[in-house]
This record gives sequence, C-alpha cells and structure tokens, in this order.
Amino acid sequence: MNVARKPLIAGNWKMNHGGAKGLELAMQIAMQSLTTQSVDLVIAPPFTILAAIAQTFEELVEQQKASCIGLAAQNIHPGEAGAFTGEISGSMLREAGCEWVLIGHSERRYLFGESDEFFAKKAFAALNAGLKPIVCVGETLQERIGGRTLAVVLQQLAALIPALEHAEHSAVIAYEPVWAIGTGHVATPHDAQEVHAAIRSEMRTHNTMLADKTRILYGGSVTPHNAESLLAQPEVDGLLVGGASLVAESFLSIVREAQKLRGSLPSKPS
Ligand code: PGA
Repeated sequence: MNVARKPLIAGNWKMNHGGAKGLELAMQIAMQSLTTQSVDLVIAPPFTILAAIAQTFEELVEQQKASCIGLAAQNIHPGEAGAFTGEISGSMLREAGCEWVLIGHSERRYLFGESDEFFAKKAFAALNAGLKPIVCVGETLQERIGGRTLAVVLQQLAALIPALEHAEHSAVIAYEPVWAIGTGHVATPHDAQEVHAAIRSEMRTHNTMLADKTRILYGGSVTPHNAESLLAQPEVDGLLVGGASLVAESFLSIVREAQKLRGSLPSKPS
C-alpha cells in the first residue's frame, strides 16, 4: 500500500446472490462499513440485482445509515444497442446505477473465449458510457511454471494501455493469477509485489502520472487471513475478492485490514 493511492477493496460476487439474498448482503456491507472512509469499497453483484441495490444504497446514504459503496457490473458489451441477444450496454449499466465494470476477468477469457482485443473494446465502451473499468490480467499455472508470467501479463496489459490512458487513472487494474482464482492457492506477497511493480513500470514507459496514480489490485483466493500481508506490499493498492466477498463478515474483515494499514501509513506528503 502506498500513501499516495487510496486503497480499494472490490467484491466480485460472480453468479451468486442474484435475488433477495444479494440485497440483504449488500445492505449488511453498506451499513457495517459506515466508518470506512479511508478505503474505497466496490461490489459487483449479478445484473439482476444491480438496480435494486443502487436504489437501496441511495436510500441508506440519504438516511445516513450507510456509507457510499460503488456498484460494479461484472461484464459489458461494447455495442450501444441492437441485436446482441443476452448482452448489456454501458448506458444500461449506468441507468441501473453502476459506476464501475469488471473487464477481462479470466473466466470471460477462458470460459467464454473472449480476447484482449474484445476487452479493449469493452474498456473504451465503458469509458464512453461514464463507467470506470476494473481491468483484469493474469497468467495461467502453465505460463507461470514456464517462467512466462511477466511476459503474459504485460502482453495482456499492452492491449489495454490505450484505454487506460484514455481513462486518465480513473480505471483500476487487477492482477489475478488464474491459478489462484477460487483454488485456495494465493500468490505470495512477494510474487504479487513483483508483478504489480512490473505492471507499474511498464505503464511508466507510457505515462508517468498514469503509472503513479492508477490503482493495482491483487485478486485470487484473498481471505481475511492473507489480506494484510498482501496489502502491506508497496505496489498492492487493494484487493479483488471473490469467494470471501459473499459473506458480509469476511468481506468486512478484509476491508478492516485495509483500513488498519492505511491508518498506520505516514500522512500524505504535500
Ligand atoms: P476468489 O476469486 O477470491 O474466489 O479466488 C477472485 C476473482 O475471481 O475475482
């Protein structure tokens, strides 16, 4: 964690809690995180419940019962409207109350065969609709064993650099090693730091301010037990949490780890 960048903890619910249970979970998170102003919070529930959560958040914030939590969609189609059965556009997501969108998650890449080029189009579509992208990169186990981690991650990043530059540091990058997602095999803090540093230094070759200001999250088997050691790395600016974000208490424990570390950092240089 670095004093210059506000930490962000995001919860990716995937295809879980699309109904009443999701609304309840979102409310619990919002109401119990009233004191977390030093950390940005984002949740990415399924499409079906986005609008209901957005409305509930608005009411709770108005009544000062909850803090402001960002709402993310898990996917977006690059088109604006038309014959794309089953797809959802950026303007629809904005209308549903979203501020963020996940792009390039490895489950989209490997289960649905989506490409770097497609992710880049989605990132531009998101920005054009006024959404902030959380773009994901990460290597497979085979690529890591073959010593190709940095090459793969930087290649995936290269496709997204034009969109990131267009975003002027409102976008967020998530490094999510594929072998760590949903497996219980978390990357070591050292491995995460190494990849995050490589991502930032590659960005620096394009745009120094972009590199310094863009937040890079780690994702993959994050739990309340390993969150602190990951967040303690200077290049880790937050976490993208899957399984552990489905229970309010574990997600909020992770948020508290970020808060504690943030509180222990020296104050921001003027
Ligand atoms: P996980 O998922 O925390 O369950 O490993 C992370 C993600 O896919 O974003």
